[in-house]
Amino acid sequence: MSDRTKIAVVGTGWWATAAHIPALTANPRTDVVLVDPNPNASQAAAQKYGIHDTYLSLNNALSAHPDIQGAVVAVPHHAHYTVAKEVLQAGLHLLLEKPMVLYARHAKELVDLAEQKGVEILVGYTYPYLEPLKEARKRVEDGLLGDIEYVTCSMSSMTIEFYRGKPAEYQPVMQYAVTGPDVSTYSDPGVAGGGQGHLQITHSAAMMFHLAPELRAEVVTAFMGNLDTRVDVVDAFAVRMTNGAVATVGSTGNIGKGDGGIVEIHLHGSKGRLLVDAISGLVYMRLHDGTEERIEPTYPAYPAEIPSQRFVEIILDGAKNEIPGAHDGLYTVELLDAAYRSAAQEGTPVRVESLYE
Ligand SMILES: NC(=O)c1ccc[n+]([C@@H]2O[C@H](COP(=O)([O-])OP(=O)(O)OC[C@H]3O[C@@H](n4cnc5c(N)ncnc54)[C@H](O)[C@@H]3O)[C@@H](O)[C@H]2O)c1
Repeated sequence: MSDRTKIAVVGTGWWATAAHIPALTANPRTDVVLVDPNPNASQAAAQKYGIHDTYLSLNNALSAHPDIQGAVVAVPHHAHYTVAKEVLQAGLHLLLEKPMVLYARHAKELVDLAEQKGVEILVGYTYPYLEPLKEARKRVEDGLLGDIEYVTCSMSSMTIEFYRGKPAEYQPVMQYAVTGPDVSTYSDPGVAGGGQGHLQITHSAAMMFHLAPELRAEVVTAFMGNLDTRVDVVDAFAVRMTNGAVATVGSTGNIGKGDGGIVEIHLHGSKGRLLVDAISGLVYMRLHDGTEERIEPTYPAYPAEIPSQRFVEIILDGAKNEIPGAHDGLYTVELLDAAYRSAAQEGTPVRVESLYE
């Protein structure tokens, strides 16, 4: 295997400049080129991180660097599908930011295309890399909970100013490295898709599917409220999974500045229950036989740099893709696609199979 790889970062806004570009430029095995249709964005990123090569399109970058092996895609949600397809069609490995894409059909198409091209799709989720999550997953994999029967998946996070189109409100807390998100990225439904569902429930739902891989949504009913914005801020879904398990999935983006919120999954199985919170790091397990275990909160740092690090290891070392588009990505898109359709029809249940008709 080669000992160096060249990666294109496509979309050089807030998240690319806060997480992916610093992680990749710090990696001695990686060369980085930047792609963004807005030259101001790519040049600001290039200047900050000492990168020489910036391009207005992936095609231009590939013409100049035919040895690019992978692309990190961090563009607004409405563009995920088109850009990801371009990356896969070029035969490149793909690190695609959450929420993967907006529609289940698009997710399936990308998964099939990646398989056909023999490349990986790593979805940019972060929580599964945290130690408490790995500990929780081990216990589920060891079968300690038995069959999963009931789940609550709950997330609260500081996002409402994004939906109001006022990302500068979070500058004092988030300390944007180069730039915050564009004002339209999360506030304009034509750019963002939805709000809290596509920006945040995508994290908690993916964590649920990651922890309990046998879960897959079959029918979803959902209610959403926009508060004073044009996208959903408060969400409540009821879900039946294909294995008969039932789940509630809920979230709000309206918590105070500086509040870390919660990202809690509580799995109840035929042999016991397990609660994990990605923000505090608390893990609590209580089995029907009386066994009890508690991992105390450690408030782990947000592992923003790990997806890009893992992406390089997948390309150079053939490392396992732990957060594949075909599972964590696709199943989460299915849940959200069905939820948005249900909420648009006053909570009418939507069957996941209907998303593919
Ligand atoms: N994993 C996480 O924790 C996390 C955190 C924040 C954001 N994100 C995700 O990162 C992605 C980007 O969000 P952001 O806040 O950085 O947005 P942003 O508005 O800061 O930046 C988006 C950039 O993409 C560029 N762009 C737009 N269309 C493009 C196209 N077709 N091709 C190439 N570039 C294009 C824009 O010019 C802009 O520079 C989103 O999917 C978001 O959900 C992930």
